[in-house]
Formats: sequence, C-alpha cells, structure tokens
Amino acid sequence: SRLVVLISGSGSNLQAIIDACQNNEVNGEICAVISNKADAYGLVRAQNAGIETAILSHKDYPSREDYDIELAALIDSFNPDLVVLAGFMRILTPRLVQKFKGKMLNIHPSLLPKYQGLNTHQRAIDAKDDVHGVSVHFVTEELDGGPVVLQAKVPILADDTADTLAKRIHEQEHVIYPLVVKWFSEHRLTMEADYAVFDNQPL
Ligand code: GRF
Repeated sequence: SRLVVLISGSGSNLQAIIDACQNNEVNGEICAVISNKADAYGLVRAQNAGIETAILSHKDYPSREDYDIELAALIDSFNPDLVVLAGFMRILTPRLVQKFKGKMLNIHPSLLPKYQGLNTHQRAIDAKDDVHGVSVHFVTEELDGGPVVLQAKVPILADDTADTLAKRIHEQEHVIYPLVVKWFSEHRLTMEADYAVFDNQPL
C-alpha cells in the first residue's frame, strides 16, 4: 500500500510505522510525510529514512477551508491508499474528511469514546480512573469520533503524572498503530457506513 503520514511534532508513531515497513511487517511504502510545522522532528525521521517530506503551513492560508483544499491536493499528488494521521494537530474540515473516507486513520490517546480532544492524560488522572489507554480509529467528521479499530489499555499508577502516563501510552501506540496499518494494507480492514470491519466481522 501507498501510505502518506501527516504529523505536527515528534513523530514517534511515524518512526514505528517506518520501522514496520522496513522490517516488512507492514506491506507498505511511505510515499510522503507531510507536516504543518516546519520544525517537526518527524521530518528529520522521514529524511533519515529517505522518505519525501513536505511542509504545508496553515499560517499561509486565510481559512481552514483554504488550507484543507491545498492539503487535499498535496495528499492526492502522492496517490495514497491510506492517509495516516500521527500527531497531526489540526481539526479537519468535513470536505477533507469526506474525500478520504475509509482511507484515513488517526491515533488518539484515550479509551474512546472517553476523553475526546486534548489533555487526555491529565483528564484521566483527574477523574481518578485506574485504567487509561489509546485508540486507533477511522476518521469521520466527528472529532475523535470515528469507528474504533483497536485499543490498548494501561494502568494508571498512584504516583503518575501526565508525563509518566503519556510515556506508558506511547509504548502502546507504537505497537498498535503499525498493527492496524498492517491490517489495512492487507485489505483485512475497511470502514462501512459508520463502523469498522475486520476479517469480515463488524467491530
Ligand atoms: C500521540 O500521543 C498520539 O496519540 C497523538 O499525538 C501524539 C503523537 O506523538 N494523536 P508522536 O508525534 O507520534 O510522537
């Protein structure tokens, strides 16, 4: 499969997917990494792996709509089978989401449907949850609301801070995201109306 990965930051999930492609765990090729931020460390990771990079700054566009039209065209220029959002810190317009419907995945650091949006680790601690986690889901027009494909759980320990919890979550992210990308690239995973299907079973 042809993959395009969108990032805004460190790109540790990108790295996990790069590694999985290089190890042939994922039958795919990352055609491009696109960042809305010029200083995203993930761009260095991509360059080190010989992957084409592009920077498209939202600051150069008067509106979200204008930005997303350009972003859609840029993504399209790589003709991807799958668009992987890996810490891409932008809310997408319905038009962009529609265009890549069933072909766009996101990873969100909570056990969805809990804690959509930001600051998920602190929110889970504040709520005195004893379990937290991370979800990979198809992207739909509802922010962090699309059908969940796979989740991993981690314990919340008594002395956890948002940072220690985030670290524990990240380790799981790097396991589950490449796995879901692998399933997609093997055509085992699709999105029907508003649910995910894996090996012909609705999830
Ligand atoms: C991850 O915590 C992911 O769940 C969230 O953004 C973060 C990206 O981290 N969507 P990285 O850039 O992949 O290291």
